[in-house]
Amino acid sequence: MIRWGVAGPGGIATDFAEAMQLVDGGEIVAVASRSNERADAFGDRFGIATRYGDYAALAEDPDVDVVYVATPQSRHEADAVLYLKAGKHVLCEKPCALNAQQVQRMVDEARRGGLFLMEAVWSRFLPAYRALVDVVGSGRVGELLLVEADFGFSLPFDPDHRLYRADLGGGGLLDLGIYPFQLCALLLGHPEHVVAEGIIGQTGVDEQVAAVLRHRAGALGVVKAGITVGMSCTARIAGSEGVVEIPAFMHCPTSITVRSRGGVEEIEAPWEHGLRFEIDEVHRCLAAGLTESPLMTLDESLGLAATLDEIRAQIGLRFPGE
Ligand SMILES: NC(=O)c1ccc[n+]([C@@H]2O[C@H](COP(=O)([O-])OP(=O)(O)OC[C@H]3O[C@@H](n4cnc5c(N)ncnc54)[C@H](OP(=O)(O)O)[C@@H]3O)[C@@H](O)[C@H]2O)c1
Repeated sequence: MIRWGVAGPGGIATDFAEAMQLVDGGEIVAVASRSNERADAFGDRFGIATRYGDYAALAEDPDVDVVYVATPQSRHEADAVLYLKAGKHVLCEKPCALNAQQVQRMVDEARRGGLFLMEAVWSRFLPAYRALVDVVGSGRVGELLLVEADFGFSLPFDPDHRLYRADLGGGGLLDLGIYPFQLCALLLGHPEHVVAEGIIGQTGVDEQVAAVLRHRAGALGVVKAGITVGMSCTARIAGSEGVVEIPAFMHCPTSITVRSRGGVEEIEAPWEHGLRFEIDEVHRCLAAGLTESPLMTLDESLGLAATLDEIRAQIGLRFPGE
């Protein structure tokens, strides 16, 4: 039984704890918050016995094997390094950190300690994404030429909302853009060249961003993300012999459509709770003694962070303290 600690009992940690109830081989044994009351409320809701009113105490808990870091991205590096230094494995929410330098320090710490670390890009582990990789790998749509993907919604302006707060690493690029960018990276590898435009709003975060990525062998990625504008939230992967379409929401589909010379095939890939697959993957990796997942490697996280850094430099997006 793998014993989990949860750091940051907010929205996604709640989803995670619900998913854990469907998974064999693991349980949440401790939760840490900045407040005893919030740790207690989460503990009561999910039947977690050990509650901490500070994040450092969780690092000292000898009964915790792996920590799920579900705090805002502005503190992912500090939190992940805290737990890795204490000898815990870490599953860290996306984006892995604010920039590639921070991700590198997390990766260095994990590798120094021989510990497991993974960015929680849950899309990668969903049945529809596994089916997509199989379809593309089988050559049914030929040589990949173009990946178009976007993820954006219109969030009413609220300077206190996490996504509008620069001090928490908000904005569309890091929080939502990570999904279309990871799709391009999954299918095409990391880009050789990027051009981007963005709109920085009054709170200093990117409200819209669009980027064109040039990948090796001539393939392009076209990506958009935003927090002030509704987007299609779909993806379209075009090859020389056909197309794969991912319906909304492209980061958590339950089906894909393949259009090729053989006709049109709808591949259904339903799930009850999408986060369970990343938990299963952590359990599988830990049982196998792996320190990273072959489906979401640390080099992938470093490469993604480098792409996002380049885009941020082009659109003038800086976070406080960087
Ligand atoms: N995988 C996904 O689908 C998905 C979905 C949403 C978000 N995320 C990612 O998960 C992370 C958390 O997002 P969320 O939507 O769960 O956020 P949230 O609801 O605001 O929760 C974040 C938690 O972090 C803790 N925290 C610690 N320091 C904080 C600070 N300075 N300001 C605010 N909260 C702080 C808070 O707990 P205490 O105050 O109790 O300490 C809070 O409950 C982000 O990195 C986000 O990108 C992933």
